[in-house]
Amino acid sequence: MSDSFFYTLVYVWIGTGIVLLPFLLKITVPYGRHTARNWGKLIDYKLGWVLMEVPSLMVFTVVFLYGDAPKDIVKWILFTLWTIHYLNRSFIYPFRTKTKNKKNPFLIIAFGIFFNLMNAFLNAYWLGYISPAYGAGWLTDPRFIVGIALFVAGFIINQDSDRRLLKLRQKPTNGYSIPYGGLFKYVSCPNFLGEMIQWIGFALMAWSLPAFSFALWTVINLLPRALDHHRWYKSHFSDYPTDRKALFPFII
Ligand SMILES: NC(=O)c1ccc[n+]([C@@H]2O[C@H](COP(=O)([O-])OP(=O)(O)OC[C@H]3O[C@@H](n4cnc5c(N)ncnc54)[C@H](OP(=O)(O)O)[C@@H]3O)[C@@H](O)[C@H]2O)c1
Repeated sequence: MSDSFFYTLVYVWIGTGIVLLPFLLKITVPYGRHTARNWGKLIDYKLGWVLMEVPSLMVFTVVFLYGDAPKDIVKWILFTLWTIHYLNRSFIYPFRTKTKNKKNPFLIIAFGIFFNLMNAFLNAYWLGYISPAYGAGWLTDPRFIVGIALFVAGFIINQDSDRRLLKLRQKPTNGYSIPYGGLFKYVSCPNFLGEMIQWIGFALMAWSLPAFSFALWTVINLLPRALDHHRWYKSHFSDYPTDRKALFPFII
């Protein structure tokens, strides 16, 4: 693939996300608490998660390793962070959820697979085939240092918030309750906030168009979902904390 075709693909991908955002803000994507039966065939919750996340891990690994661009310590760090995140998301996270007998629409899983394939491919192709070596000097560049600090902070926020959510449901048959503690003091969806911080950090570390497009797509995906969750909490719990925002403390 020529470099110019690759960049065109990335710009088209970014443009698609920007065009899609207003639609995503209007509809409620039907999975988890918003799942719906009128979106076609349903698939088991855990199986859906695994099917959705594994392609990212596999495509990223294969494309990165096959690529003939020079690979230095910076690229191996980026590769390791991506791999750790997607190993957890594919094989650990789904099996910690208490969602026995729950299902999600297959169409949503199919969109998720496509989303993950695109982001993994663009990022791995950039690192594996196009980007020159960053050089050891990049390790002390402020973009790398701030980026890795954000990635780690975002990862911790995401893990801590997901852990608090999963702990709420002691039995798979239990419903929903109001989450407290950690950043739930400020927002309804700190797990999404952590995820965004993580990928913005990754984009700073990688300083590449595909990495920024992935960070942007994460916001495009999760901002509307956080607003939906927030509205849902407020309509289901009369004692929901009134000063809690949806996603960004004190703002939205
Ligand atoms: N990078 C991306 O673009 C992207 C996209 C989507 C998700 N993600 C990440 O994937 C993870 C899961 O996403 P998600 O959308 O499924 O998150 P979620 O809606 O917050 O749900 C997370 C888990 O906690 C349960 N849960 C949530 N709120 C609860 C409550 N109040 N009481 C009891 N149980 C509750 C959910 O059960 P139910 O499923 O039964 O509601 C689910 O098992 C998050 O860390 C998110 O950041 C990333």
